This record gives sequence, structure tokens and C-alpha cells, in this order.
Amino acid sequence: MKTPVDMNGDRLLLQQVRPAKTIPGLEEDVRQGLLQGRPRSLPPKYFYDARGSELFDRICDTPEYYPTRTEDALLASCAATVIAEVRPRHIVELGSGTSRKTRRLFDACVSEECHSAYAPFDVCHDVLVEAGGSLVNEYDWLTVSALVGDYHAGFEHLPDFAGRSLFVFLGGTIGNFHHHEAVEFLSELRAHMQAEDRLLLGADRVKDPAVLHAAYNDAAGVTAAFNLNLLQVLNRELDADFAADGFYHHACYHPGAQRIEMYLVAKQSQRVRLGRLEEELAFDNGEAVLTEISRKFTPESLQALLTTAGFRMEAHFEAPEGYFSLMLAKPDA
Ligand code: AVJ
Repeated sequence: MKTPVDMNGDRLLLQQVRPAKTIPGLEEDVRQGLLQGRPRSLPPKYFYDARGSELFDRICDTPEYYPTRTEDALLASCAATVIAEVRPRHIVELGSGTSRKTRRLFDACVSEECHSAYAPFDVCHDVLVEAGGSLVNEYDWLTVSALVGDYHAGFEHLPDFAGRSLFVFLGGTIGNFHHHEAVEFLSELRAHMQAEDRLLLGADRVKDPAVLHAAYNDAAGVTAAFNLNLLQVLNRELDADFAADGFYHHACYHPGAQRIEMYLVAKQSQRVRLGRLEEELAFDNGEAVLTEISRKFTPESLQALLTTAGFRMEAHFEAPEGYFSLMLAKPDA
């Protein structure tokens, strides 16, 4: 661990979190998922370059994409209860991004007179600095210890926080993991937690397929642009030559699997050069690359996931019509 860098008086600190295990990088994921895998696939984490993060923010503002605003309203309504119940010394957020929704918890810290410290954990250094800077200005009591690292690489090298921590994992991002990956991820987090720590987990719910379908096929085409931007990431990072108009966006809900599957589909047969890998990809007309799954949960399936990963549910907060869930869970003894 590097010495924390003092960025703003003594209320914004930044430190690097060393990976606890080696995880594949882009080259290896492309070799495995695009070159060898059938059907071809790529992990969704590569969506979020600067342009992709901006497009994701714009997705959240489309009328069809309900999860962000639904979770935000739900958090606004339950934050005081959570903070009063847990009274955390530290709020540790996995994949904090711009920390937009987390402000609901800080507002509750004010009303409940519980001045927690904040440890946002994210891969993007610049986003952490910017978000952390705004937060210490907005909340004059708040200390931010930003953690730069990839949460896919485990939690062993997170700093040990004294006192009780509330870990938060919002946005429904747990749905991007396959079941076994979600179990592994939550179990690793569980292993890092103290008995008095708590987890607040956000998850999107199974609902009318038409609502789900629309959320991933917004009329303005922002989700399509977000999906297609992945090809530009590959062009830039791997010196590839994907044609911008060679693929189209396809997303649909599979009720049996209770998940959205998002694909990039080849508009015609084509060859793509991957310069950095010294490889070539051949796509058939209509061939699809799976770029994301977004699993939807029932209260039962979400609780079962937590149980399997070694947690016990303490409280369940639900949005109107069961659109979204926040579960508060404790490590099982
Ligand atoms: C931020 C991962 C929860 O799965 O709904 C939005 C990402 N993909 N539209 C989701 C996303 C397409 C989003 N998560």
C-alpha cells in the first residue's frame, strides 16, 4: 500500500489497493472471450472508459431506464433507518463512481448525527478525486479515504478500518455477475468483514418483461451507443479495426433465466484485425457477441444468494411495485 496522498486539507485522502489475486486483463479476456469462446463474449467492465461512463450517466437519465432513479428514491426513504440501525464508523462503497446516490446516506448521517467516514473504492482515479473533492466541500464534517483498485481482484488488501463498517454495493451491479461469480464475490467480501459490519446490497427485480425490455432499448438509442462504444475501446486499446457500423445493439429479457442479455450483432460477415494481439477475428453475418448479462431477482432469489455467500438478511427495503430491492445483511456466524 502506498502512503495515502493528502489532497485537500486532511479530509480527502487517496490510496492504491493492491490486487489480492491476479485477474485477467483486456488482452486475456479478448483471447478467451472473443477469439476462443463460442458464443463469443466480453466482460461488461470494459464499457466504462471516459465515453462509456458518460453514456452510462445518460442512460440513467433516459425515461425508460428506471433502476437508477428507483434505487435513489428507495435509498432516500430508507437511509435514515439504515444509518440509525448500523451507526457505521465507515461507509465503504464498492464501485462508487460519482457517488451520486451515496449522498442519501450522508444526508442520513446528518439527520441521525452519525458522522461516518467514507471510503469509496473504484478503478478510476480521476473520478475518485473529482467525486471526493465535491463531497468534502458539500459535507464539511466528512472525511473521504478514496481507494483506487479493482474490486474484482478481492478485498484482502483493503485497509483495516477501526470500528463498524457499512459496505455498500449499489446500482444492481451484482446482476452483472453470473450466479457462481456473485457467490464468489460476496463470499470474498464476507471473509473480509468483521462480525459487526453490515452489507447494503442493491438489486433489480424481476418484473413485466416489457418494462425490462424498454429499459435496455431506450428510444433515443443511448444504450445502443453505450454497447457499441465497446468496439471503440477495443480499437483504441488493442489497435483493432472494428467498423463503427459493422454491428448493431441487441438486448432482450429471458424470463426463464431472469436476465437481460445484451449483444453486439454483426450486420454482415466481416474480418477484424486485432493489431496488438496479432490476430484476426472472422464474424459470420448475424453472429452475436454477448457483452453483458443483467440478472433480475426475486426477494427469494436475492436472499438465497446472500445466504449461500454466508450472510443473513436483516432488513429488506422495496421500491413501489417491487421494482428494486435494497437488502441489509450481516455476516452469518
Ligand atoms: C450499472 C451494471 C447495473 O445492468 O442495468 C445499463 C448497466 N447496461 N444499461 C445494468 C447497463 C445497459 C447496468 N448496471
